[in-house]
Amino acid sequence: MNEIKNDLLIDEWKIVEKNFNLEGSKKNETIFSIGNGYIGMRGNFEEGLKDKKYTVEGTYLNGFYETHEIKYGEKAYAFPEIGQTMLNVINSKIIKIYVDDEEFNMMDSEILDYERVLDLKEGVLKRKAVWRTKTGKELELNFERLASFDDKHLAAVKVSIIPLNFSGKIKLVSLIDGNVKNLTAEDDPRVGSGLSGRSLEIIEKNIEDDEISILSKTKNSNFKLLCAAKNLFTTEQDYTVKSIEDEYIVGIEYEINGVEKKKIEFIKYISYTTTRDYDDEIFNVKDRVLKRAVKMGYENIKKNQIEYMKRFWESADVEIEGDAKLQQGIRFNMFHILQSTGKDSKTNIGAKGLTGEGYEGHYFWDTEMYIIPMFIYTKPEVARKLLEYRYNTLDKARERARQMSHEKGALFPWRTINGEECSAYFPASTAQYHINADIAYAIKKYYEATLDEEFLIKYGAEILFETARIFEDLGHYVEGKGFCIDGVTGPDEYTAIVNNNAYTNLMAKDHLSLAAYVAEYIKKNFNDEYQRIKEKIELDEEEIVRWKKAADNMYIPYDEKLKIHPQDDSFLSKKIWDFENTPKENYPLLLHYHPLVIYRHQVCKQADWVLALYLHSDKFTKEQKIRDFEYYEKVTTHDSSLSPCIFSIVACDIGYIDKAYDYFMRTARMDLDDHHGNTKDGIHAANMAGSWLGIVAGFGGFRAFEDEILFSPRIPQNWNRYSFKINYRQRLIKVDVNKEKVILQLIKGSPIKVKLYDKEVQLEDKIERDLAN
Ligand code: BGC
Repeated sequence: MNEIKNDLLIDEWKIVEKNFNLEGSKKNETIFSIGNGYIGMRGNFEEGLKDKKYTVEGTYLNGFYETHEIKYGEKAYAFPEIGQTMLNVINSKIIKIYVDDEEFNMMDSEILDYERVLDLKEGVLKRKAVWRTKTGKELELNFERLASFDDKHLAAVKVSIIPLNFSGKIKLVSLIDGNVKNLTAEDDPRVGSGLSGRSLEIIEKNIEDDEISILSKTKNSNFKLLCAAKNLFTTEQDYTVKSIEDEYIVGIEYEINGVEKKKIEFIKYISYTTTRDYDDEIFNVKDRVLKRAVKMGYENIKKNQIEYMKRFWESADVEIEGDAKLQQGIRFNMFHILQSTGKDSKTNIGAKGLTGEGYEGHYFWDTEMYIIPMFIYTKPEVARKLLEYRYNTLDKARERARQMSHEKGALFPWRTINGEECSAYFPASTAQYHINADIAYAIKKYYEATLDEEFLIKYGAEILFETARIFEDLGHYVEGKGFCIDGVTGPDEYTAIVNNNAYTNLMAKDHLSLAAYVAEYIKKNFNDEYQRIKEKIELDEEEIVRWKKAADNMYIPYDEKLKIHPQDDSFLSKKIWDFENTPKENYPLLLHYHPLVIYRHQVCKQADWVLALYLHSDKFTKEQKIRDFEYYEKVTTHDSSLSPCIFSIVACDIGYIDKAYDYFMRTARMDLDDHHGNTKDGIHAANMAGSWLGIVAGFGGFRAFEDEILFSPRIPQNWNRYSFKINYRQRLIKVDVNKEKVILQLIKGSPIKVKLYDKEVQLEDKIERDLAN
């Protein structure tokens, strides 16, 4: 963990910065990002920062990418050839303010009062600055920014200016800037991209009355992007106007006759439309978006934003009493997940959300194992959209399977934006076949929680069958062992290309039996649909029999001597990493050792089998979990931010509450406190959702298996009370835990049977039980 030097204040519903700190500026740009799942804007100041080394100006559109050739020194068959990078797009949020030709700037202006707030209740970013110019003129400036949850193409910036001690000219310049670039990768694979130079070519710039726009085009992926902004004063103003245009920029300069103490209010409605969403319609859609926005007005757009957030918190809020820092952390995390996640079935969520360029905006298994679980139980319609995204890229997964010599079936990519595999380092990417089973697991959990039959029939079943085919093809029977899967990598990226990764095998077992079950279920209950799918994918009924057989005979490695599950066939025979003599600064190991050095040792980057213990916690005894947990704890570095939350959950399960708390503390404020020192590159999205899991599945002991949900709450010493909500089969259940009691409350929906500490109870309205210790 890095030394925490936090400059943010604690507030349960807000992230507050009172002093602008140049050193932490890039990190705070990530933290103060706003988005709506489609548009993401880093928390850059509207006027920018003078010294570019303290800022990463970033605006991103989910799913909008440039392609580039992946350059290999040595290439082999079926290596992905084309990389994809989420583009840093035209910067539309620029608003500059001048008085007597002096430019307002947070770096060298005299600031008398300052506050920046990310309001988690409202979904709005706010900033106040009182500025004294060199000639002693004082102005109060207020900025607000939002990306509308109601209209994914719309963002808005509101600026108000009050000349506090003078009347006179104030210049306001509203620009959009097409001179944008992505960061270029340094040595850290988690930072930049293979792109260099500008990727967006400007085709056309326009200024028409109060509207400015830039039409641009990507060089390789061939998408057009239209960015437009409508500029309006909402206060009666006396001003003159001048157009601004240069090679990359268009804008309008307003020279306003400011009057002492009289507020000037200015709104910039921004729209982004691309041909990735609409063929040639982007101008029409832009017109519709901006017209509607102007008609509604900023205050109504904001009202709807607040309404959206209110509905979200009503069904999703987590409360922690007795620890305001954690309370802030968990709400901040949930807010960021909400605003980073695509909700249109064409987009997903990148490892860094829409807040930075780390991992090039790629979507990973993080979605199915971390993000979707949070949405299934808080906002299930978003979970469905994320799964639909997989369905919409199923053809690409089929193509990939053929490239990987599977005659049938679909293999989902490890890293992607458009559905094609774009990861160059196959030992830690393509080899992670478990992604297929992870997607199957998410479908199962989504279905169990929603009973969304329409989804299952229309999308889910086909994905399940096609992805199950890969495991059947991949595996083979070995005498004395059973069905074995060779040459794969499990979730732990410090161990690669092994036989019988226990996690993969267990997940594949579950996947294969689920596929067989669903095939029979649909055949029996929706035969027409079954026949349609069967025909479409040329499903042979014999395959279903083979899936079942493979599942029943799946080999799960077990070491009789240690009585633990080895991570794979060779794991236990490797030398244990010399943790004692590894200096602190050599972590994360991936930045200091060649992969081979790491692979030769027993050392885990992240939860692998421990994750299986959580996902399939019903299949193992407590004693078994304890032995496995204790073994893997000793060899895990947690160099991946996806790891501590899982260890926290399993620690709770086995009754190690203090330990669980320590792990949990590494997750809840990971980005707010910049534990990994790289929040500047973007949030750690999976960890954020993982912190929700840490409370709900960890301390709350929530599990859902088939038709049953169970809770086994515990409370860490430092908390007085906590609560969370679970959406399940049209019901909203609130779980409230204090030092003595557990209270289950049915907020919405019809009575339901639930298990509380292994005892079945009928939840009609409210149930109170003593807390187990
Ligand atoms: C982890 C992967 C994860 C990726 C993106 C890597 O460091 O090892 O499990 O999918 O980050 O978050």
